[in-house]
Amino acid sequence: MQAFKLLITGMLLLLTAETASNVSYATPADTARVVLVVHGGAGTITRDRMTPEREQQYRAALREALEAGYRVLQEGGTSLDAVVAAIRILEDSPLFNAGRGAVLTSEGTAELDASIMDGRTLQAGAVAGVKTVKNPILLARRVMEASPHVMLIGRGAETFAQEQGLELVPNEYFVLPERREQLRRMKERGMGAVPELQEHAYGTVGAVALDRYGNLAAGTSTGGIMGKRFGRVGDSPIIGAGTYADNAACAISATGQGEYFIRAAIAHEIVALMKYAGLTVEQAAAAAIHGTLTRMGGTGGVIALDRNGRAAMVFNTEGMYRGYVDEHGHITIQIYRD
Ligand code: GLY
Repeated sequence: MQAFKLLITGMLLLLTAETASNVSYATPADTARVVLVVHGGAGTITRDRMTPEREQQYRAALREALEAGYRVLQEGGTSLDAVVAAIRILEDSPLFNAGRGAVLTSEGTAELDASIMDGRTLQAGAVAGVKTVKNPILLARRVMEASPHVMLIGRGAETFAQEQGLELVPNEYFVLPERREQLRRMKERGMGAVPELQEHAYGTVGAVALDRYGNLAAGTSTGGIMGKRFGRVGDSPIIGAGTYADNAACAISATGQGEYFIRAAIAHEIVALMKYAGLTVEQAAAAAIHGTLTRMGGTGGVIALDRNGRAAMVFNTEGMYRGYVDEHGHITIQIYRD
């Protein structure tokens, strides 16, 4: 059994090294334990497309999310509390494809998906296709904690949100004029002709956290992909695809072409590689993104955090909005591949 495990591990490492050679991934270089990692989506994010002002806005929003989550952890809150605090900030920011500022369906409406998972208990909650819940991540948590179910969709999810006293808003709250314009141009000329869409093509937000009790949690929230059919559900609310947390391995939140992440069960694959093949969090995340996902032709990335505070931020796109805070409160924010 041990020999078999070593063989599989060796094969995976070879595969990873081979496929990772022409793509990039980043991982915190310092030795301090990381306690919170966030992402704001992966895509064709390059310096030449970015203005200094816009980059500043992204950095400020990611910082605000990291600070909010870190504050929770410092005050003795759980990793679930920290994940929710960080994701709420990103959902409320119009910069990201989640909550306000979400991409639109081909009908011009916002349909939001979110999920959360507790690495201690393996409990999970998810919502899909919600149109009036201001912070879908809060609803995902209520599904996990206040219902016997894992996933609620559409009208059922919204009725539950109302019963739970969550804030509801008209769908127009989520819809920004620039998103309407992007949709119009996309319909007119195709996705490739709209540079902002390349940047945010698969933008999603997510967070993974480790609390002082040694517990991991993961959460993800998204508007999906621009121009999607109404009713389309991506990977973000699918436990095992876009989100997973297991104290025995790591916590994961993904961003990318959801259909590929669902087909490859990317988040759970990373956990399984750690649990059953003995890979580290960096190796497992790289194998899933630069190996499995890339071979299938998919693009995107993940943030991952293990129980020792080792973090990995791996993507095969030009960039990924991402950042982490270590146990001393030191914040690092990165956007581009290098
Ligand atoms: N990864 C977000 C989506 O495909 O919906």
